Amino acid sequence: MKQKKITISYQVFHSIEELSVEDAQLLEAAKAALQLSYSPYSEFRVGAAVLLANGAIVSGANQENAAYPMCLCAEQVALAAVASQYPDVVVKKMAITVTTKHTDINEPASPCGSCRQVICEKEDRQKGVPIEIILQGEKGDIYKLNSGRDLLPFAFDGDFLG
Ligand code: THU
Repeated sequence: MKQKKITISYQVFHSIEELSVEDAQLLEAAKAALQLSYSPYSEFRVGAAVLLANGAIVSGANQENAAYPMCLCAEQVALAAVASQYPDVVVKKMAITVTTKHTDINEPASPCGSCRQVICEKEDRQKGVPIEIILQGEKGDIYKLNSGRDLLPFAFDGDFLG
């Protein structure tokens, strides 16, 4: 038997002012995207913004449906928009933020498992170039992770399909 360990490292910032100008702008874009959320059922808004290698910022927000399983997560909306508008451009980073009127969210809410899978697929599609992930709740600490893969150890990927 061999014991193995997986570790990740991430950065914690205490305010948006501590971020680089580029990261702060991306987080602001994610916050602006909260306005695009269509979430009458959960009343939970999620905003995502991605920075592309060509400098473009593409935003997305969650889009719900009365048939609940059809709800689209913000991260997937943003990455689908990238795939449609800039299919060959590398995504460098993604900022994600959330808000709800039901409670104060003072800590980062991280992407669901399905979004992690989609982020990893994009990393694979761009030949392993990692997508940095910046997370903040409504306020409070900001987490910065180095890649989608860091959020999804043992990810299933196309290599398994041969
Ligand atoms: N949601 C996202 O947009 N991203 C996630 O990573 C988790 C959840 C949305 C889906 C639904 O509209 C609402 O948040 C509540 O689950």
